[in-house]
Amino acid sequence: MATLIIYYSQGGKTDLVAKTLAKYLDADLVRILDLKKRDGFGSKLFSSINAFRETKTQITPSNVDITDYDTIYFGTPTWAGNPTPAILTIIDRLNLRGKDAVLFATMDSNRADSNIERLEEKVKMRGARVIETFTLATKGKSPEQLVKDTEAAIEIKDLKMYKR
Ligand SMILES: Cc1cc2nc3c(=O)[nH]c(=O)nc-3n(C[C@H](O)[C@H](O)[C@H](O)COP(=O)(O)O)c2cc1C
Repeated sequence: MATLIIYYSQGGKTDLVAKTLAKYLDADLVRILDLKKRDGFGSKLFSSINAFRETKTQITPSNVDITDYDTIYFGTPTWAGNPTPAILTIIDRLNLRGKDAVLFATMDSNRADSNIERLEEKVKMRGARVIETFTLATKGKSPEQLVKDTEAAIEIKDLKMYKR
């Protein structure tokens, strides 16, 4: 049995956090892509409204086989204080009964806590047990600093304890 990290990242920050986690925790990674066009004029407002309303989106891969994993990390940026449409779309397709979940969220500077609260509700509804959560602020941080912050979270939350 092993650890899997399922995450969405639009701009690369959550991607860097996920890859750093994978390196230290010997975890496999699945990056969920959102097929909806989310760049250009008005797209941040459009995406914020989508996140606020929890509108589902088209994703690839469209599903993930989690059979071989007992611990699953879910990672997402914060959009309007909520999880992203892509991460909620994949969570609602997974049967998480018997799985342990670790939740992490990135943000510019605020509202990742409400994001985590909603993620927690969603994965619990799908049957998971939430064993740990953490948030990371990314605004103005260099990639090196973000890696350091992720390493610190691994230590503070003792995440290696869940490695098998
Ligand atoms: C549509 C949208 C909404 C956002 N809403 C918030 C927010 O409510 N609070 C916050 O601190 N950051 C917010 N952000 C910033 C991102 O959460 C933050 O930059 C994150 O680390 C980006 O991760 P990524 O590079 O993996 O996409 C928002 C970004 C976008 C694009």
